[in-house]
Amino acid sequence: MKEIAKERFNSFRKLVEENLDKCIQVCYPESIYESMRYSLLAGGKRLRPVLAIETASLFNIDIECVMPIACAIEMLHCQSLIHDDLPCMDNDDYRRGKLSNHKVFGESTATLAGDALLSFAPKLIIDKSSEIIPPDVVLKILKEFFIAAGVDGIISGQIVDIDSEKKKISEKTLNFIYEYKTAKLFKLAIRSGAILGGVNQKMLDELTLFAQYYGHAFQIYDDILDVTSTLEEIGKTPGKDANVEKSTFVSMFGIDEAKKQVLFLCEQACDILKNNKINSVIFEGVVSDLSEGIKKCS
Ligand code: IPE
Ligand code: IPE
Ligand code: MG
Ligand code: MG
Ligand code: MG
Repeated sequence: MKEIAKERFNSFRKLVEENLDKCIQVCYPESIYESMRYSLLAGGKRLRPVLAIETASLFNIDIECVMPIACAIEMLHCQSLIHDDLPCMDNDDYRRGKLSNHKVFGESTATLAGDALLSFAPKLIIDKSSEIIPPDVVLKILKEFFIAAGVDGIISGQIVDIDSEKKKISEKTLNFIYEYKTAKLFKLAIRSGAILGGVNQKMLDELTLFAQYYGHAFQIYDDILDVTSTLEEIGKTPGKDANVEKSTFVSMFGIDEAKKQVLFLCEQACDILKNNKINSVIFEGVVSDLSEGIKKCS
């Protein structure tokens, strides 16, 4: 990522961190709030909230207007990670370089912390947005949120991901997994910013397609890192996908094809930006982080 993009990304990320910290304060019953805060404030790239803020800012929306939505999206993402790490799911002891939520708080609390974040998030949008955003726009964004969070999004992606372990699946099924467990959340981030900005249908469709290409590239890159990286580098246990015989682009087509596919998807994503004159250093930067990252993986 270019220096100018990095600076902009980091300034948004810092604001997201500060807001997340303020959103959830510990009160009775302390253990659930502590568990929620443990994962929510454990670092992470904050890609999705930053993309929501960047999209809104492309259409001249103030950062204060989009911030509650950006924080809610990070809460949903964080919930998906807590549940993804549970022993009944991917069973990972590490996340973001720290012990997973259930390793610190136990499975019951971790499950409930995920549930709590998932329900806290839309409440945050309603509480903080109602006075500054027209109600019909709030409703549209809430609908996007529930699409990404539910069976129209992550949940269906996760169930097919888990059901596809130790199985031969088609490329169509693999694409379904990537679309639903990963791309839908990027679509939520970018579409929310765009809806807030009142874009026309054509621009919304193009931005959605950008999120789709980027989301698929992002997940394949994550699958590559699972094979090529260390715990220190990715903050989660490497080699887990192969251990449980997960069906991934890497396991199905090999690492070289996977790298090519990431580069191809990154090119498609860049074309959307170019063809639609979407000038965003952050969009360009996150895509180039993937394509540059791929070149360094071995
Ligand atoms: C991890 O997402 C889950 C995937 C979709 C691969 P991130 O790599 O964005 O995780 P954090 O937020 O930086 O920890
Ligand atoms: C992430 O898939 C999708 C989620 C909905 C969390 P992974 O299972 O590959 O994510 P990591 O590698 O554990 O972060
Ligand atoms: Mg998983
Ligand atoms: Mg996992
Ligand atoms: Mg992974």
